[in-house]
Amino acid sequence: MAHDHPVLAEATLRQLGDLRGLQVGTAIRASTLNASAPYGAIAAREFRSITPANEMKWASVEPVRGQHDWSGADATIAFARAHDQVVRGHTLVWHRQLPSWLTDGGFSGPQVLQLMTEHVVAEAGRYTGEIAAWDVVNEPFNEDGTFRTSIFEQASNGPDYIAAALHAARRADPAARLYLNDYNIEGINAKSTAMLNLATSLRQRGVPIDGVGIQAHVILGQVPSDFAENIGRFVAAGFEVCLTEIDVRIPLIAGEATPAQLAEQAADYARIIEAALAARGCVGVTVWGFTDLDSWIPRAFPGQGAADLLDANLSPKPAYFAMHRALAAAGWIDDPGLPANGI
Ligand code: XIL
Repeated sequence: MAHDHPVLAEATLRQLGDLRGLQVGTAIRASTLNASAPYGAIAAREFRSITPANEMKWASVEPVRGQHDWSGADATIAFARAHDQVVRGHTLVWHRQLPSWLTDGGFSGPQVLQLMTEHVVAEAGRYTGEIAAWDVVNEPFNEDGTFRTSIFEQASNGPDYIAAALHAARRADPAARLYLNDYNIEGINAKSTAMLNLATSLRQRGVPIDGVGIQAHVILGQVPSDFAENIGRFVAAGFEVCLTEIDVRIPLIAGEATPAQLAEQAADYARIIEAALAARGCVGVTVWGFTDLDSWIPRAFPGQGAADLLDANLSPKPAYFAMHRALAAAGWIDDPGLPANGI
């Protein structure tokens, strides 16, 4: 049980976030949940919001055309229900972790768009009422703010697939908040400006969009100084913002993070949380895994790691305490406007 970890601070991140109207969340992996009881206890205790790291991606839910496997997604939702948590659905349309029957199927553009829409309707429809927010489209941009070429972008000869996906998601689950999500849009730059322009133009055209997810995968020492200002641009334009995939990856020295690096990482986590708190309209902060035990970083970025709040033994690192302090320092607000969904 989590309370068998006396080193974790008494008030949880979840409680502190609730007081401030900020949903503190984590990605979780169903396989780690099965393997480690303490992992589940900490996920339940410290977090208000849960995002399945992989279990809702298209390759996971439809490995064979027409044959759905909802087991991982269902398990995530059952976990959240059992612990009064909300679920961020991740993700309906993304160029990665697609089933090979789709990518290798030789489908025409119209067929791909039809399959995409059917997928969105099947998945969002299955979980109607269970999902607080969907990352409807993930990572639609290149670094220079142009649209990423993908099977979907090619199918619609441009970005029209994004509007189609949002419309389909709204039809399937009218209650879920609908998000676009991307990385390297923490600071003010070509990519974040392109995201702001896209969201604004979609809304002007009557396409349903509620929010923008800023992934916030950052490199040690590289939290942009204009992070809060950038979040403020989206809020001022009328969008919810969530930091959806926070981690701070460390270039390891002889396979390990040094105490100085862990201290710098703690300061980075505090900066990220402070940026989120500075803008009303930032409704959630989700870490992309809470423990170095199951972080995606070492595989995606060889030589880097130790990116999360807890170490691989589930002991809190300086980053955990820094996030805790940043949330606690924010105090509380009288009407934090907690979501009805799941609470
Ligand atoms: C990652 C998962 O954490 C890994 O387990 C998986 O192997 C690859 O995908 N941006 C995203 C997430 O939007 O879906 C990715 O998750 C990390 C980068």
